Amino acid sequence: MIDPHVTIEPSILYLGTPVVLISTQNEDGTANLAPMSSAWWLGWRCMLGLQTASQTPQNMIRTGQCVLNLASPKQADAVNRLARLTGTETIPELKQRLGYAYEPSKFEVAGLTPIASQTVAAPRALECPIQLEAVVAAQHGIMDDDPQVAGLLSAFEVRITRVHVHPSLLMDGHENRIDPAKWQPLIMNFQKLYGVSSTEIVPSRLAEIEEKSYRMPDVDRARDVVLEPAGWCNASRDGFDPNRDLRLG
Ligand SMILES: Cc1cc2nc3c(=O)[nH]c(=O)nc-3n(C[C@H](O)[C@H](O)[C@H](O)COP(=O)(O)O)c2cc1C
Repeated sequence: MIDPHVTIEPSILYLGTPVVLISTQNEDGTANLAPMSSAWWLGWRCMLGLQTASQTPQNMIRTGQCVLNLASPKQADAVNRLARLTGTETIPELKQRLGYAYEPSKFEVAGLTPIASQTVAAPRALECPIQLEAVVAAQHGIMDDDPQVAGLLSAFEVRITRVHVHPSLLMDGHENRIDPAKWQPLIMNFQKLYGVSSTEIVPSRLAEIEEKSYRMPDVDRARDVVLEPAGWCNASRDGFDPNRDLRLG
């Protein structure tokens, strides 16, 4: 078969990831809210790719806490209102060139309502259908092998400490399952905002595995948490055994 592909050099490879509005607490106790989409999940952990100097990661480093508010297409306008705003008073040169402005009242500007979280100090965004309270477990450098970029980008591993879901997203007959046919993530696809279809393409073979087979110890760990103390640490790898098997479900 002839290979029809062409070889290209796109400047970005934002091939489609969900939009997350991260809320954090500023040094003066007020709330910051920022859209991002370099996010993916494993168990009750999420990895977040962020420009280290932005207000959000700085707040996460200082407090060790955040809330991941998942946007649906209904929050697309709010995401647009937050675009090119920053909670840092001194705007870095690149952001100045890209037209960023300082905005200390992001919830207000977005038209979203801050409500109290249960395990972290940062508030949740009421209108977002899924809100994940989280604490920072680790921070890793991204592109640290390139001296021009080293230190500028970070991947944060956060551990979810509470999951809040709008009841309309629950799978019928299951109090602890989100129905993928009902949850519609807002997707950033090459800087543009898209929804996803609720039509399942084919019955998934993977989905024949029961969800509870994937349940990690973090779920039970989170149950007893009332309010996480501020502060975080890079998880220790002492005693790590690569041949150890996961014992789940
Ligand atoms: C839809 C969308 C997705 C974004 N994704 C990211 C991202 O994944 N990582 C990042 O560092 N910035 C991302 N940004 C840019 C941040 O929102 C921007 O850096 C902002 O200034 C952060 O706010 P803060 O400085 O108050 O934390 C995204 C912006 C939008 C509108």
